[in-house]
Amino acid sequence: MKKILECIKTELEPAFEACGYDRSYAKAVLSNRPDLCEYQCNGAMAAAKAYKKKPIEIAGQVVEKLAGSPMFSLAEAVMPGFINLRLSETWLADYLTGMRREKKLGVEEVRDGGTIIVDYGGANVAKPLHVGHLRSAIIGESIKRMGRFLGYHMIGDVHLGDWGLQMGLIIEELRSRQPELPYFDPDFTGEYPAEAPFTIGELEEIYPAASAKAKTDEAFKARAQEATFQLQNGYAPYHALWRHIMNVSLADLKKNYASLDVSFDLWKGESDAQPYIPWLIQDLQDKGLAHESQGALVVDIAEEGDAKELPPCIIRKSDGAALYATSDLGTILEREKDFAPSKYIYITDKRQELHFIQVFRTAKKAGYVKPETPMVHVMFGTMNGKDGKPFKTRDGGVMRLENLVAEIDDAVYERIMENRTVSEDEARDTAKIIGLAALKYGDLSNQASKDYVFDMERFISFEGNTGPYILYTIVRIKSILTRYAQGGGQAQPEGAAILPASSPEEKALQLQLTRYNEMVETAFAETAPHKICQFIYELSDEFNKFYNSTMILKEEDASKQAGYIRLITLVKDVLETCIDLLGFEAPERM
Ligand code: ARG
Repeated sequence: MKKILECIKTELEPAFEACGYDRSYAKAVLSNRPDLCEYQCNGAMAAAKAYKKKPIEIAGQVVEKLAGSPMFSLAEAVMPGFINLRLSETWLADYLTGMRREKKLGVEEVRDGGTIIVDYGGANVAKPLHVGHLRSAIIGESIKRMGRFLGYHMIGDVHLGDWGLQMGLIIEELRSRQPELPYFDPDFTGEYPAEAPFTIGELEEIYPAASAKAKTDEAFKARAQEATFQLQNGYAPYHALWRHIMNVSLADLKKNYASLDVSFDLWKGESDAQPYIPWLIQDLQDKGLAHESQGALVVDIAEEGDAKELPPCIIRKSDGAALYATSDLGTILEREKDFAPSKYIYITDKRQELHFIQVFRTAKKAGYVKPETPMVHVMFGTMNGKDGKPFKTRDGGVMRLENLVAEIDDAVYERIMENRTVSEDEARDTAKIIGLAALKYGDLSNQASKDYVFDMERFISFEGNTGPYILYTIVRIKSILTRYAQGGGQAQPEGAAILPASSPEEKALQLQLTRYNEMVETAFAETAPHKICQFIYELSDEFNKFYNSTMILKEEDASKQAGYIRLITLVKDVLETCIDLLGFEAPERM
């Protein structure tokens, strides 16, 4: 469906042309003076220079041509040469009726958008998920959903950290605890047990213990490095142990991501990139891109015009070990082979900025990724505590994701029970739904690249720019619709029209709705979920103003009332679609 600003432009173009001015001046924007008008065209100001006339003269001529246009209830030229516009109520209502009839409420799907890889989550196997992984999961899930909604073939890949030193550390720690295990007997020839020699609870305790030990015990660390090296070179007993670590850890990760309503199409990891690495290293050398530098193999990526000098991408360390960048390049080779993506989107902490510049430039230089394929790194800032420092538990430890989620759910539960109207069970379920919305909205409503303060009290508040406020608005609409239907109301025959606004509040609400399709496209193009949040916050506000000024259920004129019902149904549909794009949902009651 044509976007509202394009509709206005199309209406203005013939007016400019009829006066002898180029159509390119016929652009409209949202007004920055809503008290004076809804949209404005500043084209006369620009045209004035080209045609050597006074802007107000041009604006006046164009406005004359707009007289009688069914689109505007106001088109006036004001000093020094703006064209102020207001939409006619009838035209606006027709536009919304059009939205109501469209499958996606006016959002167009792309044709041949191709496959887009979204690399997010990025959990590390055997290490518990912590809040640092939270942002990647939440932002990535939203971006994936937006793209999918717009008709792209989106592939979400968790890209696990499953191949690093943590594996060697766990293996060595296990050896010191359970030396009798067959994995540590070089003469063992039988089948390795199908059962893992640890539970998830044990595994989560083993890794931090081993990691702490490696900091003080050099010999232990050296053994762990050796074990990592052996694993990476295919030593069968360690590979069998690695499988166990993977299985146990994955089951737990899947549970955690599911509780966040985050899902992946691919559960690949750094280990899957390993088969590509020997070829990669050879190829980069054959192409003359990789060269030795202090024993390491590196690719220069600095380019003219860089603001600062960028260090080369290290492909292989002097001890022969492959690195994080090597894995990412191997992964790109695999993704090109499997999907030939039209775009890559990676979501990580902004501290990885240099890493991705190095990887992207190397991939392009080597021709693994086509020059025109966008490779986007969505960088996010830190989630801080109220003290402005990275978020920690009360006793200063790293907050585990599941504990964080549980804390929010509990706080919401308390709030619901304060003035409780529902059973304890329902309150528990509802608290989960609202808690997730509070958490995700609290994160997504900030521009991703900025740090933000995790403020539980604010996030779970039912007022202000919060997830619960949005949910509250949806629930309020649902309840009006239910009561209307219970009273026998029948407002919704297929395709029935939205009626022209009869109050300023109703018009403001309608105008806000028209921004929907453009907003969704922009939010995805700019990988900016906060634009969806901003939009639904404003839409909720407009709805609530309308609600407070309008007797919907007490309206006596049945057809007028039916018009209201259709309008607020559209508001609900738009809000529900948007929160789905953000990755959460609304409860029935709250
Ligand atoms: N595992 C990494 C970490 O915890 C994130 C992975 C991001 N994705 C990537 N392709 N490098 O920092």
